[in-house]
Amino acid sequence: MAVTRTFSIIKPDATRRNLTGAVTKMLEDAGLRVVASKRIQMTKEQAEGFYAVHKERPFFGELVDFMISGPVVVQVLEGEDAVKRNRDVMGATNPADAADGTIRKAFAESIEANSVHGSDSDENARIEIDFFFDEDEIVG
Ligand code: CMP
Repeated sequence: MAVTRTFSIIKPDATRRNLTGAVTKMLEDAGLRVVASKRIQMTKEQAEGFYAVHKERPFFGELVDFMISGPVVVQVLEGEDAVKRNRDVMGATNPADAADGTIRKAFAESIEANSVHGSDSDENARIEIDFFFDEDEIVG
């Protein structure tokens, strides 16, 4: 299986509760390696741009407000089949549907405050990584 990259965000509900390390440990235990990481305060423009695909959805405004409500940790993760591996350990978007042993089951507060974001395809991973990182910030 090929080693690939995916993009992850540890969301404001998790940074607020000091869960950056706990979430990262679950990612690492799932076979993912953090090859880039930075804690940032997203601007409204960044959040709107990042989630532009959702701009017609009824929850878009609240999602943007939530994502700028505190710091986030943006990360590039590397591993075998990284997109799927990350989505498996994140669990379902809605924590009520998330399986035992997943990050969202362990930590998410709601469908909005769901602790982590992860790319849904290799193509989107490339786009999302490029949105936040220069290539020289990624050290495998
Ligand atoms: P994420 O993987 O970051 O992608 C879009 C986000 O929108 C999603 O996680 C949720 O946190 C958030 N969201 C808020 N409400 C909904 C909803 N009703 N359905 C799907 N996603 C939602």
